[in-house]
Amino acid sequence: MTIAAEFIGVSQSFGDFLAVDNLDLKIEEGKLTTLLGPSGCGKTTTLRMLAGYGTPTKGRITIGGKDATRLPPEKRNLGMVFQSYALFPHMTVAENVAYGLKIRKVSEPERSRRVMESLDLVGLAHLAKRRPKALSGGQQQRVALARAIAIRPALLLLDEPLSNLDARLRVQMRSEIRRIQAETSLSVVLVTHDQDEALEMSDTMVLMREGTIMQQGAPEQVFPAPANRFVAEFLGYENFIDDPRRGLLTVRPEHLRVAASETEPAVASAGLRLPATITSSAYRGVDLVITTAVLNAAGEEIPLVSTVRRDSLAADFMGHNRGDKVTVYTRDVDLVALPG
Ligand SMILES: Nc1ncnc2c1ncn2[C@@H]1O[C@H](COP(=O)(O)OP(=O)(O)OP(=O)(O)O)[C@@H](O)[C@H]1O
Ligand SMILES: [Mg+2]
Repeated sequence: MTIAAEFIGVSQSFGDFLAVDNLDLKIEEGKLTTLLGPSGCGKTTTLRMLAGYGTPTKGRITIGGKDATRLPPEKRNLGMVFQSYALFPHMTVAENVAYGLKIRKVSEPERSRRVMESLDLVGLAHLAKRRPKALSGGQQQRVALARAIAIRPALLLLDEPLSNLDARLRVQMRSEIRRIQAETSLSVVLVTHDQDEALEMSDTMVLMREGTIMQQGAPEQVFPAPANRFVAEFLGYENFIDDPRRGLLTVRPEHLRVAASETEPAVASAGLRLPATITSSAYRGVDLVITTAVLNAAGEEIPLVSTVRRDSLAADFMGHNRGDKVTVYTRDVDLVALPG
């Protein structure tokens, strides 16, 4: 694997506050890497250091194998799109996209060629003469992307670029960005706090918490095997069961089943089964959400949530109410052990 950029023991403090704590991270060339984590965990701070805004308090950053720790932003050859993508309102779409090329003294006709190439890539060549205020949010977002791509950056940095878009457009733009990344083989670092976005878009996802990396890897490595409870919760795992023999286990609500009796065949072959009491159930269209309480080894009640698809609900669940005694169970393959 070729490394586009690397953080080596990088920290960033603001006064006494350590926003990024001794970060070691390799950004692979030609891949899409996401930085994922809750608000305040240091994603933007990390990206800004890579861009050259904010010097590390400690450690080194390399870009293309060369030390870039103190290199000014304009010497890093990076494209950037931030949450507020700030197009120049008085310029046309084409002029916006040409902006970075002018600054870099790329001359005509190469400049026009690259502007059209970038606009083609984001599907907006036909709007080249419009001004930003005559574009939809999604179109403006694409112009910002085209502007960043036009300079042929060594790295494209995207900080929550989709957060201003409505839910449907956001989902659509995920695959757009993925396509553009694949077509250009750009090295991309994308910041998000949306786990679905990270799972869908990443070659590598990096999960951060309080300035440190909790886990990193391909989505299909990380998702089925979260390194600890924090990662699991962040990825939508809900049920945590302290098993005296196997340690901390988790199972997703859609994998936890509810049976009226322990003698049902599916229950007998389950990887885990626990006596439980129904505490509530809620109708949610496609599925039913059943909350139960089980007792742990210390005799404390812990809640377990099961979402039951209505087509598999059958007669089995009908007539069950709050207070009813049931068995919750899951298959062995759906049981995830948490190491830490
Ligand atoms: N210039 C600054 N001065 C002081 N504290 C700062 C500064 N910039 C960031 N911080 C703090 O550093 C921490 C990390 O901030 P950062 O912006 O990197 O978080 P983030 O992961 O991008 O969060 P979000 O998802 O909300 O954008 C936060 O607690 C923030 O308040
Ligand atoms: Mg941020």
